[in-house]
Amino acid sequence: MSAHQSVLILNGPNLNMLGQREPSIYGAATLADIEAACIDKAKTFGLTVTFKQSNHEGVLVDDIQSAMGNHAAIIINAGAYTHTSVAIHDALRSVSVPVIEVHLSNPHARESFRHHSYIAPVATGTICGLGQQGYLLALDAVATLLNQGE
Ligand code: DQA
Repeated sequence: MSAHQSVLILNGPNLNMLGQREPSIYGAATLADIEAACIDKAKTFGLTVTFKQSNHEGVLVDDIQSAMGNHAAIIINAGAYTHTSVAIHDALRSVSVPVIEVHLSNPHARESFRHHSYIAPVATGTICGLGQQGYLLALDAVATLLNQGE
C-alpha cells in the first residue's frame, strides 16, 4: 500500500442527526465523533480519509463519481438510500475501487423494508450491527484489500 492513499467515507440521509436520532438504535456517537475515530484509525494504516455526509441522492452519486482517480476505496453508509437507490447502485458499479457497505444497526433484524440493499450486490463486503465500530472495521478491511492489491 503506498503512503497516504485516500479513502472516501460517505454517509447518506439523516446520518447528520446521529447522537440525537434514535440513540437506542444508532448509539450516542455523533457523526463528528465517528469521523474523528475514522481519521485516527486510518492514520495507523497510513491512510487519509475524506469524510462526507449528504441528505441528497444526487450529491452522493456525484461524490461516488468523484472517487475515480482520487480515492483508493469507498466506505459507504447510504442510510435509507440503501433500500431504494438504483442510482447509487449504478454509480458504485462504475467505480473500480473496493467498496465496503456499513450500517450502524443490523437492518436484517429490523423492518422488512430494510432487508433489501441495493448497495450489497456492488460492495466488496458489508459490515452491519456493530455501531460505530463498523466504520473502523471497514477501514481495517480497506487496508487489507489495498495491501493485497500491491
Ligand atoms: C442505517 C440503516 C438504514 O436502514 C437506515 O435507513 C439508516 C441508517 C444504519 O446505519 O443502520 O438511515 O444505514
